[in-house]
Amino acid sequence: MASVPHIEGFTARALEERDVPALQTLFDEDPEYFELNGRAFPVEEVRDALPPGRTAGDKFLFVLERNGRAEGMIDFIRDYPEPHIWHLGFIFLSKAARGGGAGRRCLRALFHWVRAQGGTVIRLGVVEPNAKARHLYATEGFEFEAVREVDPAAKRLRRTLVLRRTL
Ligand SMILES: CC(C)(COP(=O)(O)OP(=O)(O)OC[C@H]1O[C@@H](n2cnc3c(N)ncnc32)[C@H](O)[C@@H]1OP(=O)(O)O)[C@@H](O)C(=O)NCCC(=O)NCCS
Repeated sequence: MASVPHIEGFTARALEERDVPALQTLFDEDPEYFELNGRAFPVEEVRDALPPGRTAGDKFLFVLERNGRAEGMIDFIRDYPEPHIWHLGFIFLSKAARGGGAGRRCLRALFHWVRAQGGTVIRLGVVEPNAKARHLYATEGFEFEAVREVDPAAKRLRRTLVLRRTL
């Protein structure tokens, strides 16, 4: 991996297999987030998720550490669905790490990092009931692109808004 994002208050590094149990514990401590999504999904599902036609080489998975402990996870797909668009597949901070602007700091660091990788747009999906994340994205310049309706076959149990931000 060429580089990692620099996020004040965290150390980001490439996710390794040994990180999975600690991240799963963070997921398990936050059933409310998974209820917003309509289902609980394991860390491995995020780790392995790839859009059609993409390979592991297009995927950038980071663990965020604080004081040597895993406190968050970030998943990007490069050049999806088009060149220079970076799809933020997942961002998650532990309940302990959230608040006080930590999520906003992460996003701003990601804007900087993606630009440095040659990306010009960050795109993501957020489930409609996730008011907190939607507020964060709206106040960081993300704009509505599309809506994806519920589709259990695609494991989408909530209406999902696709947002994008030009960098
Ligand atoms: C989404 C997430 C990364 C945001 O990080 P965070 O550290 O909680 O957010 P911040 O402290 O930077 O706060 C961002 C904004 O959300 C607001 N906010 C916090 N709690 C809120 C709530 N319950 N309802 C509405 N807004 C809320 C904050 O007030 C702040 O807005 P402000 O600056 O206008 O006051 C983090 O909460 C998280 O990992 N959540 C679980 C996973 C998730 O939802 N990921 C996003 C999936 S698309």
